[in-house]
Amino acid sequence: MLRVTRYKEKIMDAHIQVKNLNAYYGKQLALKDINIEIPKNQITVIMGPSGCGKTTLLKTFNRFFELTENTQLTGEVLVDGENIYNKDIDVTEVRKIVGLLAQRPSPLPMSIYDNVAYGMHIHHMRKNREEYKDGVKHYLEIAGLWEEVQNRLNEPATSLSIGQQQRLCLARGLAVEPEIILGDEPTSALDPISSQHIESRLLDLKKQYTTIIVTHTLRQAKRLADYVIFMYLGELIEAGPAKEVFSNPKHERTKQYLEGLF
Ligand SMILES: Nc1ncnc2c1ncn2[C@@H]1O[C@H](COP(=O)(O)OP(=O)(O)OP(=O)(O)O)[C@@H](O)[C@H]1O
Ligand SMILES: [Mg+2]
Repeated sequence: MLRVTRYKEKIMDAHIQVKNLNAYYGKQLALKDINIEIPKNQITVIMGPSGCGKTTLLKTFNRFFELTENTQLTGEVLVDGENIYNKDIDVTEVRKIVGLLAQRPSPLPMSIYDNVAYGMHIHHMRKNREEYKDGVKHYLEIAGLWEEVQNRLNEPATSLSIGQQQRLCLARGLAVEPEIILGDEPTSALDPISSQHIESRLLDLKKQYTTIIVTHTLRQAKRLADYVIFMYLGELIEAGPAKEVFSNPKHERTKQYLEGLF
């Protein structure tokens, strides 16, 4: 079902296609006629000044936007060619396929082990005790946390440092077996070392997952991005392969942003 878009000589597999998307909070138009394709199994970084609509755009990808009261949305968001806003779509399924790593770690009020097991449970395939044990280890390993927590799995998740909690949330999110990972400034509450941990996990995982990250940090964007979306006042100003956007932005606003003029 994937559509193929030509960007110069390259061929891009689009995992998400956004078509004529408008999003309103009450009467305020927060996203204005957004059209964009997000490449599969790459890291896309959404950038732009505060209030330009980055979080709003991200929330339209897993139907979290409609959880805010008095919102309205027109247009389409296609995941693997299917509009997730179609009437017969199972929203729970959408949110399983499109996982979210929040800005602040939000572990569930249960043990480290149960946080990950809960993620696996959401995926609701019948599992026995051994499968759960192996799964918890597996997801903690890929989130880069296993070494640190293997001897304290039954302690409450809140006993972990903030940076560890964020990796736990990543493990829990991956245990649901998503195809797409959204991150809304997922390292902004973390210290530099913990941020580095999360960044390196995201880079390791990108071959398996389509990843979309909002960040305010230009240096982080440069470290992570394969593809870049630049927004301004609810509009998509420019999008393209990271190398091209960073080295040769086409739009004056992007240039100014990259030069730190905002
Ligand atoms: N719950 C809400 N109710 C009303 N307006 C909102 C709500 N959330 C966001 N907005 C408005 O929508 C616009 C886009 O907000 P959004 O949070 O998407 O921006 P952002 O780019 O993520 O900003 P930041 O970098 O500060 O996180 C802003 O004008 C904001 O004030
Ligand atoms: Mg935001």
